Amino acid sequence: MCQCCCSNQTVVDPKNQQLEEVLKNYSGKKGALIPVLQEAQDIYGYLPEEVMVEIGNKLSLPVSKVYGVATFYAQFHLKPRGRNIIRICLGTACHVRGGTKILEKLEEILQIKDGETTQDLEFTLESVACIGACGLAPVIMINDDTHGRLTPDAVSKVIKQYQ
Ligand code: FES
Repeated sequence: MCQCCCSNQTVVDPKNQQLEEVLKNYSGKKGALIPVLQEAQDIYGYLPEEVMVEIGNKLSLPVSKVYGVATFYAQFHLKPRGRNIIRICLGTACHVRGGTKILEKLEEILQIKDGETTQDLEFTLESVACIGACGLAPVIMINDDTHGRLTPDAVSKVIKQYQ
């Protein structure tokens, strides 16, 4: 219930409502946990602890099981992620052509380390193995955009396009 003087109505977060809809759709179905986690992550952008507790309660699963699955699969994220996801390739071709220097430049510009998210939630930086564009090495992907044949000097220009 809302505790202020504006009204006496329940304050409902639309995301929680969406989650309840998802949980209703999967109620009583076998193998629901992974699809429910995927849909919950689509709703919240990651899997907050209270969401995993709610999923466990509604699917009648121990929270430890929900947490175990969420931490096992790399597709699930337990911390908030940035509006822009930067994937820096450190596969062989990109490594040989200076991928590490690109990563260092990104870390310097964004003031975060590999695997972290900026405080303003604008960028998440993740190193990955080959992303299948070796001919363009060194390569980064920002969301669905590929930026190839990068140099450390060109990195800030690319980042500016997303700020
Ligand atoms: S090694 Fe980087 S795209 Fe293949």
